[in-house]
Amino acid sequence: MDFLTDPFLLDASSFDGPVLVTGAGGCIGAWVVAILARSGIPLVAFDLQDNRTRPSLLLGDAAADLTWETGDITDSARLFEICDKHGIRAVIHLAGLMVPFCKADPAAGARVNVEGTINVLELARQRGLKRLAYASSSAIHGMPPGGPTIATLYGAYKLANENTAQVYWLDWQVPSVGIRPNVVYGVGRDQGMTSEFSVGLLRAARGEAHEISFGGPVSWLYAGEAAAAFITAIARDGDGAPVFDLNGSCMSVEQGLEILSHLAPNHSVSTAGNPLPIPPDLDDAPIRAHLGSYPSIPPEQGIRESLQAFRQLIADGVLPAQS
Ligand SMILES: NC(=O)c1ccc[n+]([C@@H]2O[C@H](COP(=O)([O-])OP(=O)(O)OC[C@H]3O[C@@H](n4cnc5c(N)ncnc54)[C@H](O)[C@@H]3O)[C@@H](O)[C@H]2O)c1
Repeated sequence: MDFLTDPFLLDASSFDGPVLVTGAGGCIGAWVVAILARSGIPLVAFDLQDNRTRPSLLLGDAAADLTWETGDITDSARLFEICDKHGIRAVIHLAGLMVPFCKADPAAGARVNVEGTINVLELARQRGLKRLAYASSSAIHGMPPGGPTIATLYGAYKLANENTAQVYWLDWQVPSVGIRPNVVYGVGRDQGMTSEFSVGLLRAARGEAHEISFGGPVSWLYAGEAAAAFITAIARDGDGAPVFDLNGSCMSVEQGLEILSHLAPNHSVSTAGNPLPIPPDLDDAPIRAHLGSYPSIPPEQGIRESLQAFRQLIADGVLPAQS
């Protein structure tokens, strides 16, 4: 599956030591570790479990070679232990609970998303780390409640992360970059409120039917592009605690299905057409101005490569042939 990560490989000389990737077993985490590993940048993957299923979709057998530590992001002592053991120089913090999980267990959502991020900031403060990027979310646009964007506990927790990071800069000069991904799609995106188009692509590769509940204009942020933004954010020492939207392209779900129709003419993926209460067209110009160049993957390419990868992974027996 190297063709998936080929566009994102980086020059390892910009990195001065191992990168800790929290949430490495998740969708964006899998892309981050795959890009770092294939670029020859040392990394330590961190997640609740040593489950390399998603990284294996991108790296194949090479996922077995990743340095992997398990632990809970709410366990601060464990984070320090891992940092000191490996001489960590940078952190990409992606561990978190998504919208449905925060709703199902609000206290757990706060522990993982709020306290977990404080633990990472505290690690950076006490170990003098100058390179930290953390995942906020476009869900912060739902705060305060009452506007057109859906208000969620998840969004409330992510906004707390942004405010906390800014106070860590003001009080202790801990630099960070907060990145707010919008709707991520691609290989490995299989859970969360907005994963349905990616699930639909996998179902199309299987020849199965799928109805996407939402329709109309949405953000199309290719998972590799999101990962590349996080990695680029720690390719140099930070200064301040800026936060940025990360949207990718704006296109309708219906247009996405048209692209799919060219690639898989007999597919049975459809949309129920309900508008998604999330802004579809946030501006990427500020993050691109701040980070400099990182690849942009148009939806035509992202959809084509994702479908190609799903077909190959099914043919190779890596993914089951049926849901
Ligand atoms: N995917 C998107 O569309 C999207 C959009 C906006 C923001 N984000 C944010 O980006 C980050 C990564 O997203 P993703 O799509 O890869 O999510 P994901 O759900 O696929 O992965 C999250 C990972 O965090 C791990 N995790 C959960 N609780 C943990 C804990 N207590 N300790 C250690 N690890 C824990 C999970 O095991 C999982 O592997 C998350 O913080 C998410 O909120 C994602």
